[in-house]
Amino acid sequence: MCLTKLDIYHLRNIQQQSFEPAPGINFIYGENGSGKSSVLEAIFILGRAKSFRSPTIKTVINAQEKHLLVAGQLASNQHAVRQLGIQIDSKSIEIHINRDSSNKRSDLAYALPLQLIYPKSYELLDAGPQQRREFLDWGVFNQEQKFFPAWRNFKRALLQRNALLKNPKLGQINAWDKELAYYGTMVNQLRERYLLEFLPVFIEIARQFVEFEHISLSLASGWDLSKDLQEVLFEEQEKDMRYGYTHSGPHRADLLLMLNHRLAKDFVSRGHLKLLVLSLKLAQVQVLAHQQGHAGCILIDDFAAELDKQNRSKLLRYLNRVNCQVFITATELGDFGDLNASMNYKLFHMEHGKIRQN
Ligand SMILES: Nc1ncnc2c1ncn2[C@@H]1O[C@H](COP(=O)(O)OP(=O)(O)OP(=O)(O)O)[C@@H](O)[C@H]1O
Ligand SMILES: [Mg+2]
Repeated sequence: MCLTKLDIYHLRNIQQQSFEPAPGINFIYGENGSGKSSVLEAIFILGRAKSFRSPTIKTVINAQEKHLLVAGQLASNQHAVRQLGIQIDSKSIEIHINRDSSNKRSDLAYALPLQLIYPKSYELLDAGPQQRREFLDWGVFNQEQKFFPAWRNFKRALLQRNALLKNPKLGQINAWDKELAYYGTMVNQLRERYLLEFLPVFIEIARQFVEFEHISLSLASGWDLSKDLQEVLFEEQEKDMRYGYTHSGPHRADLLLMLNHRLAKDFVSRGHLKLLVLSLKLAQVQVLAHQQGHAGCILIDDFAAELDKQNRSKLLRYLNRVNCQVFITATELGDFGDLNASMNYKLFHMEHGKIRQN
């Protein structure tokens, strides 16, 4: 699966640009403020219907315009060429896949699986568990069709239960406990199943970047697994009512990365932490490639800012092997190293919101 054409309108300093990316690696270089991250942001919006930089889309829309539009042509082995499009203004989002405009965000996400690596990604192991849950769930979402409906039903039950805890009606809480436990258990099982496949791939990639004798990654489910979730919810009802929220369930899950039997974030260096995050992200791409025959698209912003020369060339070697479409930005052409070591690549220069192939 790869983007063969991209049209971007009214996104930050990009007024109107079209280009045809390579199926392999797309190197984009240009001065600070030229619009490199905005190109990645456009691709991200096309796959996720939101920005990775701004919580409000209004700031992403070009200051002189009322809406932004990103359109992409997607080629893959499984489907005929598809046209994806998204138009956003401050009040509404319109998503098109081919001529059908009744699509949802999840349809876009399935059509264009994206993996983003940018300076903030490196918080994954440092920050709270939510980011790690989101990371894990991206993988499960792409692997298991059942995951998204189960997760959505679980979230709905959780919202209802939390509302009732603040305004207790015991009979109703019990009914939602049942629903929450059913879908919550399913979410946890699908996460566990994904992790079984993910773990060996991650360890193999991590060993290319860091040297530790023992690397392990485990899922803390969010409740005591020796008990049924419904039983736990029942036992904790009083405490939950006191605090007004549900203490146990897959919404409290976490991913624990241990190196030589210690929690990675507590003792590895910043550089190693970055390489481990990178390995986690690449492993997701690889699992997706095993499973679906395509790896989705990888976006890497500020390539040089985060990795030293040796690790940059290791990463590029890896990306060439994994056979996926990649978009990488840097301020200096030289940061990409020897371009001829890459196959199927295109080089683009960005200047004042305009992208030109070199
Ligand atoms: N809503 C907007 N309307 C118009 N221009 C904008 C808007 N938001 C940001 N810009 C400008 O768009 C330009 C592109 O920013 P972008 O972050 O994509 O650049 P970059 O090439 O990634 O820079 P850097 O190398 O510093 O990361 C910046 O000059 C910024 O001031
Ligand atoms: Mg940038």
